[in-house]
Amino acid sequence: MSGTIVILGIFVADTSYRAERQPRMGETILGKSFALGPGGKGSNQSVAAAMAGGKVHFITRLGCDPFADMARAIWEPAGVVPEVTEDPDSYTGAAYIFIEDGTGNNAIIVSPGAAANISVADVERHAGLIGGAVVFVTQLEQPLPAAHRGLEIARAGGAVTILNPAPAAAIPAEMVALCDYVTPNESEAEGITGLPVTSVEDAVNAAKALRAMGAGAAILTLGENGALYHDAERTVHVPPFSAGPVVETTGAGDAFNGAFAAALSRGVDPVEAVRFGCAGAGISVTRPGTAASMPKLAEIEALLARG
Ligand code: RIB
Repeated sequence: MSGTIVILGIFVADTSYRAERQPRMGETILGKSFALGPGGKGSNQSVAAAMAGGKVHFITRLGCDPFADMARAIWEPAGVVPEVTEDPDSYTGAAYIFIEDGTGNNAIIVSPGAAANISVADVERHAGLIGGAVVFVTQLEQPLPAAHRGLEIARAGGAVTILNPAPAAAIPAEMVALCDYVTPNESEAEGITGLPVTSVEDAVNAAKALRAMGAGAAILTLGENGALYHDAERTVHVPPFSAGPVVETTGAGDAFNGAFAAALSRGVDPVEAVRFGCAGAGISVTRPGTAASMPKLAEIEALLARG
């Protein structure tokens, strides 16, 4: 039996440019391809969690425009229940995504648009939903006070709380202390702790620092090196899953967080849930796009069964 997952975050339209390299200031270069698709970390995580079998409600703000229509068109078939405040005075945001042709790696500028106005009051309007959740997830693309309030309400209601601290920001220790799980990647962990993360050993040190800030457990996503789980009793390096050639790594962290939340909502042991998340991420990187690359539950289960 799975309980409700509530995710707070942003939707934006991803505009992705594949090129050999990024232009220098003042320079124009030719790209190899362009794609427009649904993105935003909170929305991507919602789609990932729903496709991985979770019952997901997504709290956000949208404009009243074609990009908002794009959001609804990805949520509906995935089974995400939208909890949207419409803002006719703003616009649905967008992200510039540079994809390095040789590696599939990315660099991103995200402009949240209407979602930059997600407020504490917006979150408090959904207090009943958040307080009744089994798992609550948020990130840092919307204003930090809204994320903080969401974590407070979720913790008070007894939900399992997950903070994906992306993009990296200075987070108050009292906010970290509200989190059962904090899930940065290497650079985000470095941004928060000040400790460089270039190896699994470094990841253990950064995870210990996050626990010292008050997190129940720290999970560092390590790209091609899988993930590192660290709580009061266990430190486990979970290796990556290969599901085929890597096409694009954008959204891999969201695939991980969404699948991880879905597994936790079914009562799965956290280290097993990390394996489930790594399998989801391993499939997502074999496909282009972010929300559009999220795997179905059966695909993740098949990859886990193959080992
Ligand atoms: O994590 C990937 C996401 O980050 C992209 O979809 C982009 O919109 C940015 O928010």
